[in-house]
Amino acid sequence: MDFLFKIGKPFLHALDPEDAHALTIKGLKTGLIPPCAGQTDPRLKQTIAGLDFENPVGLAAGFDKNADVIQPLFNLGFGFVEVGTVTPKPQSGNPRPRIFRDPSNEAVINRMGFPNGGLDIFKRNVERFRQSHPDTKGIVGLNIGMNKDQGKPEKDYKHLVNELAGLADYLTVNISSPNTPGLRNLQSKENLVPLLQEILNERARANKQPPLFVKLAPDLEEKQIAEISESVSEAGIDGLILTNTTLERPDHLPETFRSETGGLSGKPLTRKSTEIIRAFYQQTDGKLPIIGVGGISSAYDAYEKIKAGASLVQLYSALVFHGPGLIKNINTGLADLLEQDGLDHISKAVGTDHSS
Ligand SMILES: Cc1cc2nc3c(=O)[nH]c(=O)nc-3n(C[C@H](O)[C@H](O)[C@H](O)COP(=O)(O)O)c2cc1C
Repeated sequence: MDFLFKIGKPFLHALDPEDAHALTIKGLKTGLIPPCAGQTDPRLKQTIAGLDFENPVGLAAGFDKNADVIQPLFNLGFGFVEVGTVTPKPQSGNPRPRIFRDPSNEAVINRMGFPNGGLDIFKRNVERFRQSHPDTKGIVGLNIGMNKDQGKPEKDYKHLVNELAGLADYLTVNISSPNTPGLRNLQSKENLVPLLQEILNERARANKQPPLFVKLAPDLEEKQIAEISESVSEAGIDGLILTNTTLERPDHLPETFRSETGGLSGKPLTRKSTEIIRAFYQQTDGKLPIIGVGGISSAYDAYEKIKAGASLVQLYSALVFHGPGLIKNINTGLADLLEQDGLDHISKAVGTDHSS
């Protein structure tokens, strides 16, 4: 697989990033990108929020926005796949170009603005996947957001919970994408507590109650981290996904790239998101499961997040620069790192930074 990606990469990177992405989805759909999952290592299997994960490496939201290629993604070796963000109505997002790569720093900036086919298409695709793969071991997360023109966010989130709870292994409430005006304001205490309450009430009414995770931004002050920790713990949220993209622009990024509006992901986000994981783990006394995401491009990066407090990890941007072989490499690399540290199971590495 690494060899195939090496051949295809110059061609893909010569294209506009969004065209390259569309081609990748097509390649997955048609089987042009072959399966490359490795053996599952029993040391990497975990039960988190009541769900059995075959391995801790997941695909982050935004790659498969319409839930088009869930099974082909599992075939690449992911333990879990998060699809979406879906909004109730279809929307086209911001004008193109709206994704930018900086290969020298393995970084991406995007200002997509949730382009997606809307709930009906998304739901049909997930239903199809469920019908054709009833025995799948892969965990499917459904990431939900609000339409750009929705003045009452709780309406969209409740509607999506109601429609999708029965199909989800877990649901992610995305309140952290920087490209939907007002979305990140939902992270403030005054907005967050009533929103989560409404969403949780809606879940209680649904025909199934999947775990509910909240996805947060990395651009949070200490005080906000403390307030959010308290709010989510009291509300009874099942876990946090840390983090979405950042609005920060480190100085070392090339001027033309860093001046693009949007959320920055990939390598320049690695350390920042790890520190946010560390802070939330501390604030919640390690009681709330954390999925760590942001600039993971090696087993070492994943392990750093796990030691800071993440039970599982996700990635997206590194796939652009390293290809799908990375998933297997991270899983085997994690098993090696456990061995090095004399640990017989991944769960024993979670949060170890805090005990030393
Ligand atoms: C092109 C692109 C689109 C994204 N779209 C979404 C999205 O729709 N919903 C979401 O929650 N996160 C979205 N993200 C954020 C990722 O899920 C992830 O949190 C972030 O990119 C950090 O991880 P990474 O450095 O491994 O990419 C997107 C990221 C990229 C690069």
